[in-house]
Parts: sequence; structure tokens; C-alpha cells
Amino acid sequence: MSKIIIKNASELITCKGKAPKHGKEMYDIGMIKNGCVVIEDGIITDVGTTDDILKKYDENEYRVIDADGKAVLPGFVDSHTHLVFGGYRADEFSWRLKGDSYMSIMERGGGITSSVRATRNTSLDEFIEIGKKRLDKLIAMGVTTVEGKSGYGLDRETEIRQLQAMRKLNEIHEVDVVPTFLGPHSVLPEYKGKEDEFIDYMIDVMKDVVSENLAEFADIFCEKNVFTVEQSRKFLSEAKKMGLNLKIHADEIVQLGGTELAVELGCASADHLLQASDKGIKMLSESDTVATLLPATAFCLKEEYARAREMIDSGCAVALATDFNPGSCFTNSVPLVIALAALHMKMSVEEIITALTVNAAAAVNRSNTIGSIEAGKKADIIILEYPSIHFLPYHAAVNIVETVIK
Ligand code: NIG
Ligand code: FE
Repeated sequence: MSKIIIKNASELITCKGKAPKHGKEMYDIGMIKNGCVVIEDGIITDVGTTDDILKKYDENEYRVIDADGKAVLPGFVDSHTHLVFGGYRADEFSWRLKGDSYMSIMERGGGITSSVRATRNTSLDEFIEIGKKRLDKLIAMGVTTVEGKSGYGLDRETEIRQLQAMRKLNEIHEVDVVPTFLGPHSVLPEYKGKEDEFIDYMIDVMKDVVSENLAEFADIFCEKNVFTVEQSRKFLSEAKKMGLNLKIHADEIVQLGGTELAVELGCASADHLLQASDKGIKMLSESDTVATLLPATAFCLKEEYARAREMIDSGCAVALATDFNPGSCFTNSVPLVIALAALHMKMSVEEIITALTVNAAAAVNRSNTIGSIEAGKKADIIILEYPSIHFLPYHAAVNIVETVIK
């Protein structure tokens, strides 16, 4: 039996309490000074001050980690990534630097379509090999659970292969991988004008996905020139009937009403939200749909950031994620996300931590098992090389995670 005590943490951030945390609750991260955590067989069994805890346990029976001078917090949950894909789009990035827009590249057959060609030519073994390397990088930044989407196959075989790769990665790697079926991610040239037909095709593919138990979530790119609100409603409603949890890429580039749809359908999260309407934000604030913001995408696309401050002040439950993908955001840097949230989205470090832990856990429907340091939860814990959480934004865009317990 593996027994661990982490003691003397300068700051132990528990993030305990009900999930997701809305508005002002996001500020309350349950800090314990000189904190201590007891772990048995991968599960947290006790949490408190070091003085109180060490009175109750015999240190000799435990592997003891001394976190003196270090901050300890729940493992990060990266709740929105496109983890598994083939090929890269460095050429497109350089065109964007010269002034081309993301949508104009997409409209002339680049963008997601270009990744689809490469992904269809990538084998299951290649996905797994590259996926392992990507997960190694994530865990080094403190990510203990990652959501990963399909969506670069856009046909039955390749969508399923992407999901099979994530299932395998979940089995062989320490990081937990939450698989999402994002069949309606883009409209290939051969389906232009026949989007309704494509949605029906993807609903059919989803039956196979569900019967093989390959996904926990369904997601769709609801966007001008991609899928309408009506098409998104149809696809996600079918997904719900098949027992999947829901996510949506909503109001990223144009304000369409995907945010409102997310609340209407009870999505676990609505993601991007750069153009979310006031009404959409109000609806989110009155629901448990998590507003998942992806500042690294806005940064890489040189777009305005989502209105995080207004969302939190009006009571929304906000999460942060990387959106790692080959196009709009080829970065998996959690430290960059933290820096952008602090410097450009007016989020406090407490809110940022809530957004990357307990609220992100809610966005992947795992609030009962991860996202906070509380007795009964999985011992997914990170230890920083500095004594305070304030070093997270201050050491801007640098990884300060020293130890990860998974
Ligand atoms: O979340 N917005 C749509 N999907 C991805 C981009 C995918 C790509 O450019 O390959 C996103 O940003
Ligand atoms: Fe995305």
C-alpha cells in the first residue's frame, strides 16, 4: 500500500467546496498555511495544518514529502484540447503573421481541412507515439487530467481512430484523458451547402462512437460558415439522447448564439465565448454550464480576449484551458494561459487557480473525483518550486511546477 504525507506546505490550496464555483466563490480557494495532506493508495485521506495532522499519524509509516517553502495545489485540468491530430500548419501561421485571417485561410481550403488531410494519413500507432510525448509535456506543467477531442477525421474511420488513440493513451499514460467526439468540427469542400447532410452523417457516426464507448462528450463548432445554431441544436440533442455529455465551441469569431444554446441544452461547458452576448453571459451565470475561456487562442489569433471579468462579476463559473490544436492555437502552455488570464483578462490568481482546477473538473464532469484537495478525492497534486501561488502569474509564462503526484 502506498502511503504519502506532504507536510509543511507554505500554502496548501484546497479549492474545496461545491463545484463549479460561480462568481465571487471563485476567489475562495481554501488556503491552509503550513498545510499537510495524507494520501493512501492514490486517494486523499486527510487534509489540515501540519501541526494537527502530524499529531494523528506516525510519519515513519509514510513516505514523507517536505514541501517547506513550496505551494501545493490540486493538479491542473486542461478541459479543452485537440490532443490527437496529424501534421502541422506552420505555413499558415506565417501567413497569419503577414495579415491573412484565420477564417480566410479556412475558406480557401486550408485550416482544419488541411489538418484533416494529414490526420487521415496518420496511423493509430503514430497517434499514440506522438500523443505520449504531448502528455509528457502536459504532466510536466502540472496537468493531471486532459480533455481531448476528435474532429480532424471528419469521416467515420478517422474520427474513430482518433478516439481509439485517446482511449489507449488513457490506459498507458499517467495523465487521465477525457475523450470528446467532435465530428462536426468543420465542413469539407465536398459538403459545402450540404451541411445538414453532414450533420446526419455525424449523428450516424456517433452511434458507433457510443456503442464502442469511445467518448464521454460530444462537441460541435457552432460558427458562421461552419455549423448554425439549428444544426448544433440537432447534433447535440441527439448526442444527449445517446447519453453523452455536451460541450460546444460557441461564439468564438462571430456572435451566433451558441452560448445561449449551451445553457438551453445543459452543456457541461460553453467554450471560447470571445463574442458571447450580454444575454448569453446572464444565462450562463444562472446555470451550471461552465464558461471555458481559451486565452492562448485569442493571443495566437490576435483577437480580443473573452470578457472574463464581466463573466465572473455577473456570477458565471469560469474555467481556463489551453485549446492546444494544430491551427488556431499551437501551444499547450498552461503557464502562458495563466499569464494571459492575469495580465489581459483581469483575473486574480485565486480565480485562475479555481478556473484550472475545480471549475475545469466540472467542465469534464469529474467534480466528484478531482479538482480539489479533499478527503476522498484522487491524489492529483502539484507542488510549486516557490512558496506562494502569486509566483504563478509573476514568473510570467514559465513553468514553476516542481513535483506532480498522480
Ligand atoms: O478550438 N474553433 C475551432 N476549433 C479549434 C481550431 C482548430 C484548428 O484551427 O485546427 C479551436 O480553436
Ligand atoms: Fe477548440
